[in-house]
Amino acid sequence: MSILVAGGAGYIGAHVVRLLLERGDEVIVVDDLSYGTPDRVDGAELVQLDVAGCGAVDALADLMEARGVSAVIHFAARKQVGESVARPGWYYQQNVGGLANMLMAMERARVDQMIFSSSAAVYGMPPVEVVDEDIEKKPINPYGETKLIGEWMMADSERAWGLRWAGLRYFNVAGAGWDDLGDMATLNLIPMVMERLADGEAPKIFGDDYPTPDGTCIRDYIHVKDLAAAHISALDYLASGEEMEANVFNVGTGVGASVKDVVSKVIKATGSNLEPEIMPRRAGDPPQLIGNPERIGRILKWKAEYDLDDIVESAFSAWQADPARKHF
Ligand SMILES: NC(=O)c1ccc[n+]([C@@H]2O[C@H](COP(=O)([O-])OP(=O)(O)OC[C@H]3O[C@@H](n4cnc5c(N)ncnc54)[C@H](O)[C@@H]3O)[C@@H](O)[C@H]2O)c1
Repeated sequence: MSILVAGGAGYIGAHVVRLLLERGDEVIVVDDLSYGTPDRVDGAELVQLDVAGCGAVDALADLMEARGVSAVIHFAARKQVGESVARPGWYYQQNVGGLANMLMAMERARVDQMIFSSSAAVYGMPPVEVVDEDIEKKPINPYGETKLIGEWMMADSERAWGLRWAGLRYFNVAGAGWDDLGDMATLNLIPMVMERLADGEAPKIFGDDYPTPDGTCIRDYIHVKDLAAAHISALDYLASGEEMEANVFNVGTGVGASVKDVVSKVIKATGSNLEPEIMPRRAGDPPQLIGNPERIGRILKWKAEYDLDDIVESAFSAWQADPARKHF
């Protein structure tokens, strides 16, 4: 099978590329390298292209036809919530425009299978503790809106020309499947805490007066290698030709961990003796966000294998292996 992975040189995409290569699939990575790096996708063909740029539809369709692509996995997107609030036009151009180009190229090249990186951000501030896929979607920022619109675009393409698609709604992705594939960004909790500790500064906790057992926010942490495996399960499901029972799936564990829990595990892993500093709440943080994994378990036969200790240990190990990071 020949799989086109857009944004495959990034954090999550590179994990999926490695799993695909390990099982012998042919992989073509399309990435503009604005964020990802070529060394993360050794063994795959790499085509440097902005999927949201002019001429992308023709370039992508030609590539799909030339390589006999059977499915696309679409990671290519911008992912910073704050930036999406400041630059909504650019986020729509990149995330929605890039996906529109990809879908038009697929239609032209008759490639009818697509896996899309969606996000728990489509739920916004849900009124329930554990989120099912079918609750009302109310994203609270342009980033989350682009993900929800992406799901609508694929549903419309299914109706119009028979696209088979899966939208995977990731919860809090962390850890590293291999030391050379750690998260390059410092946007999520674990890398943010490690960065503060490596600089000899106390990690910050935003709000300890939420209605949760220890007062800090609760999130559903998913190991990036488990998340990558969910893409393989989804790919096999699309390729099976089975009638699709559902298109969107939470990729979570159904279990939450508090910010305090996570911070103390990171402090322990790094051997630091600094205590976290409590700051005021940040706007727009729901007290609790946990994904019900029942649907993905039942239909895609996927289940998380790693726990929070594995996540923290692997994130720390990749941090220490990364020459660009300040080490402990
Ligand atoms: N990391 C998370 O916690 C998280 C959570 C939910 C959803 N997601 C989604 O998963 C996907 C992958 O996330 P990630 O953490 O691996 O991000 P990342 O930034 O590490 O990877 C994205 C990759 O896409 C490339 N890219 C971006 N815009 C492009 C464009 N216009 N054309 C071609 N390539 C482009 C970047 O160079 C990068 O290699 C994104 O769609 C993101 O929104 C991530």
